[in-house]
Amino acid sequence: MLNTFDVIVIGAGAAGLMCGIEAGARGRTVLLLDKSNKPGKKILMSGGGRCNFTNRYSSPEQYVSRNPHFCKSALSRYTQWDFIQLVETHKVSYYEKTLGQLFCEHKSSQILELLLQKSQESQVDLRLNQLISSIQKDAGGFIVVSNGATYRCESLVVACGGLSIPTLGSSPFGYQIAAQFGIAVHPTRAGLVPFTWHVEDKARFECLAGISVDSLVSCQGMSFRESLLFTHRGLSGPAILQISSYWRPGDEVLISLLPEMDLHLELQHVQKTSGDLMLKTALAKWVAKRLLGVFFTTELLDKPLKRFHSQQLKEVAQTLQAWSVKPNGTEGYRTAEVTLGGVDCDAISSRTFEAKKVSGLYFVGEVLDVSGWLGGYNFQWAWSSGWAAGQVV
Ligand code: FDA
Repeated sequence: MLNTFDVIVIGAGAAGLMCGIEAGARGRTVLLLDKSNKPGKKILMSGGGRCNFTNRYSSPEQYVSRNPHFCKSALSRYTQWDFIQLVETHKVSYYEKTLGQLFCEHKSSQILELLLQKSQESQVDLRLNQLISSIQKDAGGFIVVSNGATYRCESLVVACGGLSIPTLGSSPFGYQIAAQFGIAVHPTRAGLVPFTWHVEDKARFECLAGISVDSLVSCQGMSFRESLLFTHRGLSGPAILQISSYWRPGDEVLISLLPEMDLHLELQHVQKTSGDLMLKTALAKWVAKRLLGVFFTTELLDKPLKRFHSQQLKEVAQTLQAWSVKPNGTEGYRTAEVTLGGVDCDAISSRTFEAKKVSGLYFVGEVLDVSGWLGGYNFQWAWSSGWAAGQVV
C-alpha cells in the first residue's frame, strides 16, 4: 500500500497539530502520525488541567537556547495575540493568573478540542497508535513506514517533542531522525524541574515540606521572583522551576526568603526601639515559625535583640536573604515540564524551520534547542514554530 501526501507530520502535540492545521488550510494534504493513543496529551495535562496556553508578555527574552536569536522570527510572526484571537474566536473563556499567564477558565481539553476541530476543517488525516519503523529520503521526497504501511511525502515535519514525562508519550525519536540525517543534537537535560536535596540537607529541611514562601532565587546571573515550595525531596515552586533551566550540576543557588526588604536594617531598627524582644519574636513578623527553627538555634532565637552585635544581626539577615543551596540534582525527566537542548538551531532555518542541509525536512516545537520559561511560553513556542512551518511545507 502506497499513500502519498504533500506533508507528513510526526507528533500530534501542540506544534504538530498547529503545523498540520496551517498546511491543510493552504490546501496541502497532511498525514499526522502519533505513537500515542490520544493526540495532545501534554495539552490535556498542562497548567493543572487548565492549560496555560500563552503569556501576554511573550518575547524572545523568555527562551533558553544556544542560539538566542533563532526564536525571534517565528515568535514575531505568530504572536501570543494571534493565539489569543484564536481562543477568543472559539469562545474558550480564559483568565490571567499572574505575570501574564493565560489559563483556560474551565479545562485544557477546550484547547485540544479547538485544535482538533481546526485539524478536521483542514482535512488533516490524523492516525494514532503508530509505530514508525523507517524513514528514507529519495529524489521525490520521503518514504515513511508506519504500522507496516508505506507513505510518501514531499515535506516531513518532525514534531516529536522532548523527553519530559515519558508516561505522556515522549520519546527520543525526533533526535534520532535528526541524527539519521546528519543534523547535530545538543545534549539534553531536564528543565522546569524541582531540585533534590543532598542527604544532609534533606535531614535538615525535610520537616519544612509543604511550606511555600515568596522568594528571589538566583543562579548563573539569572534571578526569578516567585514562590518557592519546600518538598520532601527538595525544593520546588515556580521560582525553583524557573531557575532550574539555568542551573548546572555543582552550581550554588542563592535564595532570599524575604525578597522585599532590607532585613538587617529592619532588625537594627527593632533593636533600637524594642531591644528586649527576642530574635524569634522580632522575626515572627516576617518569617513562619517552622522555618525559623530550622535556620537558627534555639539559643539564638531566644536571645533579646539588645544583646546582638551589628555583625551578628547582619549574619541573621544573610541567613534568610542570602541562603546558599547546593542541590544534589533535579527530579529529572520524570517530573520536568520541558527538555533543554535538542536539535541544533543553527542547522535549521529560523523562518521556515527546514533543515538547511536536508531539503523537505522540518523540525518544530520542543524537539528544537529552544525552551521557554514557566508561564505559557513553551506552548507559545509550539504554536509559533508550528505555524511558521505550516506556511511553507
Ligand atoms: P509534545 O510533547 O506536546 O508533542 C509531541 C508528540 O509527539 C506527542 O503527541 C507524542 O506522543 C508524539 N511522539 C513522540 N514520539 C513519537 C514517535 N516515536 N512517533 C510518533 N509520535 C511520537 N507549557 C506551557 O506553555 N504551559 C503549560 O501550562 C504547560 N504545562 C505543562 C505540564 C506538563 C505536565 C508538561 C510535561 C509540560 C507542560 N508544558 C507547558 C510544556 C508543553 O507541554 C510543551 O513544551 C509542549 O507540549 C511542546 O509541544 P510539542 O508539540 O513540541 O511536543
